[in-house]
Amino acid sequence: MPLVRENIIQMAGYVPGEQPGDISVIKLNTNENPYPPSPRVLEAVQQITAEQLRRYPSPDARIFREAAAQVHGISPDMILCTNGGDELLSLVFRACVGERDHVAFLDPSYSLYPVLAAMQDARKIILPYRISGTHWEFPAEIFNLNAKLLLIVNPNAPSGTLADLPTLSRIIRDFRGVVLLDEAYVDFAPANALPLVREYDNVIILRSMSKGYGLAGMRFGYGMAQASLLAQLHKVRDSYPCDAVAIAAATAAIMDQAYAAGTWEKIKHQRAHISAGLRGMGFTLPESYSNFVLAQVPARVNAGELYQRLKTANILVRYFNLPGLTDKLRITVGTVEQNAALLTALKALTAAA
Ligand SMILES: Cc1ncc(COP(=O)(O)O)c(C=O)c1O
Repeated sequence: MPLVRENIIQMAGYVPGEQPGDISVIKLNTNENPYPPSPRVLEAVQQITAEQLRRYPSPDARIFREAAAQVHGISPDMILCTNGGDELLSLVFRACVGERDHVAFLDPSYSLYPVLAAMQDARKIILPYRISGTHWEFPAEIFNLNAKLLLIVNPNAPSGTLADLPTLSRIIRDFRGVVLLDEAYVDFAPANALPLVREYDNVIILRSMSKGYGLAGMRFGYGMAQASLLAQLHKVRDSYPCDAVAIAAATAAIMDQAYAAGTWEKIKHQRAHISAGLRGMGFTLPESYSNFVLAQVPARVNAGELYQRLKTANILVRYFNLPGLTDKLRITVGTVEQNAALLTALKALTAAA
């Protein structure tokens, strides 16, 4: 008898981006914030007492929910804290998707979604983006779906493109299941979909503290939805998903909006700078509303080889050997110095190609 379920044996696990031990690597491959978290985060972590470590933490990260509720202008019972945004995705799949149910998501988007669908032994409805040149659009099928769960990353990963609020609103209004709007990168965009949470009872917004707040090492994320839906998700989560240190750090981070917004501005400025630099070298890329760009290499260049050459030059970017992406590199926006090193290396490597 097999020791684990047949669908687990058959599925491939999620492969995260490389995390090199060498800190001298210019790391532009996993969309971390290149700037450290607010200094108040380190203060909060240093103030953790032995007594806080001896006891279990707050099961629902109460102080974070109160702080985030103030920032977003909603009530704390519309917020659910998780061990990274990824854990929220697991909870939503567990609560909403049974064996052989349909789950819909766009392609390309977050490569964790098909893995979570396979874990539930669910049926996938893959919605290919309509791509013409640098223009990425939802396919018409998205407006007429029959599925338990629909996942939309906005701004999208890996393209960085942004869908507008009226389009999202129309999709949610006409969809009978739950829509998960994955806003892991929304801090770098001009608008977010929070107003839709008040309007519809079938939408959940995912937020991450990993990107906008420089806390990828902490593992803290949260969902926003109407309290009745979150009450169901509460039933399927761990008893204490967020530890005391992470709760203190994430609360200090979200309360220091001025600091976080300062890093977003610097990143957006540098995003424009590297986009222009890449275009000047013959790359083509859609306008990004995120903290990364998806750059199609010039025709004479092989993207896989360029990725390898950059790696040899101590610069790590992301190359996906997947349909539609083999001629592209996804590059996280780094610090001023990191971006300058990237552009200099690319100039030399693409000129020599
Ligand atoms: C689209 C998307 N959603 C969610 C996440 C989850 O982020 P985290 O678990 O670090 O909060 C990521 C992380 O890379 C992501 O790219």
